[in-house]
Amino acid sequence: PTVGIVGCPFSGGQGRTGVDLAPNKLISAGLVDQLSSLGWEVHYNSQQKFLDIPYNPIPTSSPTAPSKGTETVNETDGQKEIQRLPDDDIGKMKKPRLVSAVNQKVAEEVSEIAGKGWLPLTLGGDHSLAMGTVAGTKAKYPDACLIWIDAHADINTPLSTDSGNLHGCPVSFLLGLEGTDVAPFNEWLKPCLKPSEIVYIGLRDVDGPEKAILKKHGIKAFSMHHVDKYGIAKVVEMALDHVNPDRSKPVHLSYDVDALDPMVAPSTGTPVRGGLTFREGHYITEALAESGCLVSVDIMEVNPSLLDPGSVEKTVAAGCSLARASLGETLL
Ligand code: ARG
Ligand code: MN
Ligand code: MN
Ligand code: MN
Repeated sequence: PTVGIVGCPFSGGQGRTGVDLAPNKLISAGLVDQLSSLGWEVHYNSQQKFLDIPYNPIPTSSPTAPSKGTETVNETDGQKEIQRLPDDDIGKMKKPRLVSAVNQKVAEEVSEIAGKGWLPLTLGGDHSLAMGTVAGTKAKYPDACLIWIDAHADINTPLSTDSGNLHGCPVSFLLGLEGTDVAPFNEWLKPCLKPSEIVYIGLRDVDGPEKAILKKHGIKAFSMHHVDKYGIAKVVEMALDHVNPDRSKPVHLSYDVDALDPMVAPSTGTPVRGGLTFREGHYITEALAESGCLVSVDIMEVNPSLLDPGSVEKTVAAGCSLARASLGETLL
């Protein structure tokens, strides 16, 4: 089998720098060789196409960020002159043009890799990138279902979001909820997912409006309460029974490392205590790999610039081992 790694060094869907460093960190930790050892043919190409986008990529909350990205400036990055166009908020959405443009490229890349019959493994970057990864997977596999592992539901709409951070909104765009038919996203991203095609595991920090959206659309979600109550094996089985009862459909796994407990994956931008243990987190990926249904995998929200070197090492190692387990690594 062949895996195509899409490294996407992107932080524009939220307010902290550093999450853009994760793809290189995961690769430097040896991920390519690790996946080769599992028997995969591994393709990993340059990330340049995600960087050649003419909007300021630096989070606005960063001390080094220009006060507002409202002017066209020409920066010189070594030899190359980069034009930075204004990217003002649209309604409450922050960095909408940058997030949209990057995700359009991610969608193209993921659908191209999937189109060859390869498995796209996308290394984020922040979780706004799932707009692109899921749209790209759905272009190749229209009946694919989505398993979303996260402390958060990431289903805010441009109307319901409090933070304005688009990493809290990708699912609403994929479903085409109220307020998502908005430029520039609607120029390329069409609703491609039905509420019955997604299931969540690991939730424990869901905003009020998000709870209302989950209820209104009857979206299946297993919170940490359900993990405590039933155990992780039963939860994964129930999750698959919901979206993929015959185990006949392709599955896209979108894994936010903040689903793991902060003791296991501390270096992430929006940690929430009371998360999945190391084993629960890996059991999910092992069980999905065993199902034989996985066609696309995201590992998102590792932020190697947060906390101490020991925390970074743990979190990067967890990102790599989740990727390996998703691609079939077994303990025996
Ligand atoms: N619900 C919050 C928001 O919309 C937090 C989202 C966190 N998302 C993430 N991908 N870590 O801003
Ligand atoms: Mn999250
Ligand atoms: Mn919250
Ligand atoms: Mn997330």
